[in-house]
Amino acid sequence: MEEYALEAVERLTTRPAEPYETITVDPITPLLGAEVSGPDLSEELTPQQEKEIRHAFLTHHVLVFRDQDLTPEQHKRFASAFGDLHPVTLPAEGSDPYVLEIKATGESRSVAGNGWHADGTADPEPSLGSMLHITTVPGGTSGGDTLFANMHLAYELLSPALRGFLDGLTALHDGALPWTAAGQTPPPEYDVPRTEHPVVVRHPDTGRKLLFVNAPYTSHIVQLARPESDALLGLLYDHVARTPLLHCRVRWQPNTLTFWDNRCVQHHAVWDYFPHTRYGRRVAIEGTRPQS
Ligand code: SIN
Repeated sequence: MEEYALEAVERLTTRPAEPYETITVDPITPLLGAEVSGPDLSEELTPQQEKEIRHAFLTHHVLVFRDQDLTPEQHKRFASAFGDLHPVTLPAEGSDPYVLEIKATGESRSVAGNGWHADGTADPEPSLGSMLHITTVPGGTSGGDTLFANMHLAYELLSPALRGFLDGLTALHDGALPWTAAGQTPPPEYDVPRTEHPVVVRHPDTGRKLLFVNAPYTSHIVQLARPESDALLGLLYDHVARTPLLHCRVRWQPNTLTFWDNRCVQHHAVWDYFPHTRYGRRVAIEGTRPQS
């Protein structure tokens, strides 16, 4: 590994131990994700629990809580401890505008999120994060894992020269692209968002830089010719997909809730369980405009 990559990994693997009093935090890998035990999310959090979960979230970016038997109202209350709720895009008629059902069955011919992406980056203010509560796991015990990738590290593992080049660029994110990629057109009631964001942004809470492009939403890098943009974006997507040390994998059990930071991770829902059923609910939290 190059020296700059070793230094990026070392910064994380040599972090001082975190002093938690109300939660237990077991990292999934030294570089991304943690299992959190202690709090019962069906109850209101104490200020100390909230503070410690926030700290763990900013440190590990993906938090996994097991054995959480939650109603949608309790799920929303937990999410609202971290900000206003982010409404669902195109909610189904009669459904809760803040609760997105994540469902795949034997009738499904595609599933949401089956590819590396961040949520809703064509919006001017993409969500801060999402909490997915899975209640039905395919086959009862396995399948339907979700992969996550650390976009801070994705940036830091690039050569200093390439990082310097990317730092000054912006990219257009287009909300129509996921529809056209699926051979569909967006429904007429959808006010399709299109937003230019920096290719490298800073996390609003930590100031740490990260790579902010993703395959389903990013159309092109504005300052480059199209073939150049396509080649560079392809290189960056391959880097995210093919570098296992960026990744962690969450294996769901019934009543697992996972809270991920949509500002600095991408995720990929693996559809390896057809024709079985997987079911859960996702609540998202409002974010802010990404800044370089
Ligand atoms: C998504 O938010 O993209 C879905 C994630 C999942 O189903 O694991």
